[in-house]
Order: sequence, then C-alpha cells, then structure tokens
Amino acid sequence: MSGDATVTCAMTRHWWGPAFYDWVLAATEARGLANRRRRLLASARGRVLEIGAGTGLNLRHYRPDRVTSLTALEPDAAMRDRLAWRAETLTVPFQVLGVTVADADLPDGGFDTVVVTLVLCSVADPAAAAAAIVRWLVPGGRLLFIEHVAALGVRGRLQRAVSPLWTRVARGCHLDRDTLTTLRQAGLSVSDCDRFALPAAGPLFATCVQGVAWRPPIGEPDAEDRVFRASPSIVEVDGVIGVVGVVGVVGVGGVQ
Ligand SMILES: C[S@@+](CC[C@H](N)C(=O)[O-])C[C@H]1O[C@@H](n2cnc3c(N)ncnc32)[C@H](O)[C@@H]1O
Repeated sequence: MSGDATVTCAMTRHWWGPAFYDWVLAATEARGLANRRRRLLASARGRVLEIGAGTGLNLRHYRPDRVTSLTALEPDAAMRDRLAWRAETLTVPFQVLGVTVADADLPDGGFDTVVVTLVLCSVADPAAAAAAIVRWLVPGGRLLFIEHVAALGVRGRLQRAVSPLWTRVARGCHLDRDTLTTLRQAGLSVSDCDRFALPAAGPLFATCVQGVAWRPPIGEPDAEDRVFRASPSIVEVDGVIGVVGVVGVVGVGGVQ
C-alpha cells in the first residue's frame, strides 16, 4: 500500500467508527446535505465510480434507471462493512474495492461518471487523484463532487493556521485545500459549481463546493468554466465567521 492509505477519520480506526460517522453527520444530512447528494447524484449515469464511498450515504441517491453499474473504492475496512450493508438494497451491479485512489488499478476511460463527496480533503496527493479521475473518465464523462475547501479571507487564514494540527488529529483531512484549482489543473472543466455552507458544521469545515466537472471530449480543448455561484448561506456564514475570526486572530496575537 502507498502512503495514501492513511484514512481520513480517526474514528474509523475503531469498529464503532462508521456508526459514529453517520451519527455525527446526521444533523448535517437532515438540514440539507442529503438533499444536495440527491440533486447531484440524480445526474450520475452509466458506469459509475465512487471514490472514498465511506459508509454509503450516497447509495440511496443513485437512480437505477440511469446507472448501469457502481464501483466503489473504500480503503477502510470498517467503513467498507457498513457500505456493503447499505449496498444490499442496490438493484444495480455493485462492487467495492478495498484500495485507495493511488492503488486502484482501473481501466482508462472505463467510467461515464466519477463521484467524490468529502474525500479530496484527505487524499495524500490530490493532484494525482485528479489525474487518475481524468484518466478513468471516458472523454465527455463527468465528475460529480461535494467537497469541503479552503474559505476566503480571515477564515481561510485561520484554516491554514489550524490545518497542520488538524491533519494529524483527523488522519489526513486538510481544511485548506483549493480543490477547484486542482481539478482544473488536471484538465477538467468545472460547471454548475455552487459554493455553500455545510449545515450544522463547525466554522472551519463549513465552506463547501458542489458541482460537475467534465473531461472535455476528444478534439475539444478544455471548455470555459460555465457557471459559478455562491449560495446565500455561504455569504451569511462568511460574514458571521469573519467577525468571530477577527476577534480570534486578535485574541491569539495575530496568527497568520
Ligand atoms: C469523510 S469520509 C466521506 C465518505 C463519503 N464519501 C461521504 O460522503 O459520506 C472520507 C472517506 O474517504 C476514504 N478515503 C480516505 N483517503 C482515501 C484515498 N486515498 N482513496 C480512497 N478513499 C479514501 C475514507 O476511508 C473515508 O471513508
């Protein structure tokens, strides 16, 4: 296994970790994340690859009339058990591979849709992961994503200050990743991107992006990014947290 095998959530080292993960996310799911998953994944079609599928919170949102097969990568054995339990209700062909994105041996152009939700924050080498996604997508295929990313302004500075410690505590999760830039640099064309605040999440984790990124069809150079919008929720959160952040920075003597 490569160094990328280090797995996100400290809690998943324990058998109770996956249940705890679902419990921690329950309020966030109920207050909007589940709806976002449903809307995003309604457009998954054909041969689908989900990277870091976790406990399988996305599974019920795939539409069996649109998805022909689902392959999941999940390196954490405890998460995989819960994923397999949830997958029992799936009606499309399903397989789960217990490997990281770095170790996966998958066919080039083998998938019509790739899905990542709350995963790219924790892979060891996001640029390599993005390059693998491009390789595994058929030309014209789409990446569907919901990822937590670096915030702007004061909150972003706080994230950068805290991230090295957090990464150690949370086994590889980074608070300050610029995932959209990583996807674009890998050659994906980002569209329909929504920047929003994760409901019921701590201020340092709240900034998320949800969207679609295309592997440009052969012969078509990378298309312009199409749409970028900010949900009202993120504007509110940035305002409130900006004030809290300023107080915090002043309070600790000007952390950069
Ligand atoms: C925060 S959980 C998200 C789970 C799920 N995608 C969701 O939306 O609830 C991150 C998941 O990514 C997996 N993971 C971490 N590093 C990975 C890697 N390098 N390759 C594939 N999966 C990885 C972890 O095992 C964990 O299940």
